[in-house]
Amino acid sequence: MTTPDAWDPDRYARFSAERRQPWEDLTALLSPLARPRVLDLGCGDGALTAELHARLAASQTVGIDSSAAMLERAAARAGDGLRFEAGDAGSWTGGPFDLVISNAALHWVPDHASLLPRLATLVAPGGQLAVQVPTNEHHPSHLEAAATAAEPPFAEALGGYRRVSPVLPPEWYAEALFRLGFAERRVRVEVYGHPLASRDEVVEWVRGTLLTDYQRRLPAPLWPAFLDRYRQRLAAALPDRRPFLYPYRRLLLWARRA
Ligand SMILES: C[S@@+](CC[C@H](N)C(=O)[O-])C[C@H]1O[C@@H](n2cnc3c(N)ncnc32)[C@H](O)[C@@H]1O
Repeated sequence: MTTPDAWDPDRYARFSAERRQPWEDLTALLSPLARPRVLDLGCGDGALTAELHARLAASQTVGIDSSAAMLERAAARAGDGLRFEAGDAGSWTGGPFDLVISNAALHWVPDHASLLPRLATLVAPGGQLAVQVPTNEHHPSHLEAAATAAEPPFAEALGGYRRVSPVLPPEWYAEALFRLGFAERRVRVEVYGHPLASRDEVVEWVRGTLLTDYQRRLPAPLWPAFLDRYRQRLAAALPDRRPFLYPYRRLLLWARRA
C-alpha cells in the first residue's frame, strides 16, 4: 500500500550526513542481538536499513514504508534476507521481531497512545524497540510553516489544515513503556546542532521532510507561492548568521522485553 507522496529521496538525502548522528545514537542504545529478525518502520530509501541488516548480521530484515518513491529506491538494496514492503507503520502486522526500529518516521503516524501498544505487540520476548522521532515544533522552522498554512490563500486551499505533531511529551513514553511491560527502558531528549551554510538552507532541510505534508495537500499551482511565503517568514524569524546553526530536538526511545 503506497499513497501519493511528496517524498523525494534525493532531496531527503541531501542532509544525510547531518541526519546520521541521531541514527548512530539510536543504534548505540541497542544491546547485543544474535542473528535477529528486524523490522524497520518508515525505512525510507533503505540505506540505513541495509546498513543495519549487515551490521547486526540479521537473519531477516523487513523495511516498511508508505512512499512509492522511497520504496523504488530501497528495492535495489533488497536481497540476502533483506526485503522491503509497502505498508503503513501505524497498522502493519507481522512478526514478532527481535528488534523493531524506526528512525525519523513515526512522527508521521497519528495517535501515539494507540501506536505504542501496537508496536509492543510486534516485539518478541527478549526483543528490543528503538525509536527516534523529531520533536522540533517550537523552532521557527516549524512554527512559520504552520503560520504560512494559516494565511490566505493557503488556509482555504488546505481547508484549515495545519500539521500538529503527534509526538507526546518524553515522560509519556517513559510511563507507557513501563506500563507495556518492557523490563528495561531509556527515554532521551537530545538537541542536535546542524551547521548549515545559511538560514536559507533551513528551507531546503524542511522541504525534504515537514513541508512534504503541505506540498502533498496543496494544489500544485499554489505550492511555489507557499514556499516563497514560508521563505519570507523564516527570513524574518531567523538571524542571518553564516554559518547558521540549526538546532533540532529529537526524542530517542529504547526498551527491551524480559
Ligand atoms: C524522514 S524519512 C526517514 C527514512 C529512514 N528511516 C531514515 O532514517 O533515513 C521518513 C519516512 O517515513 C515514511 N512514512 C511516513 N509516514 C509513514 C507511514 N504511515 N507508514 C510508513 N512509512 C511512513 C516516509 O515515506 C519516509 O520514507
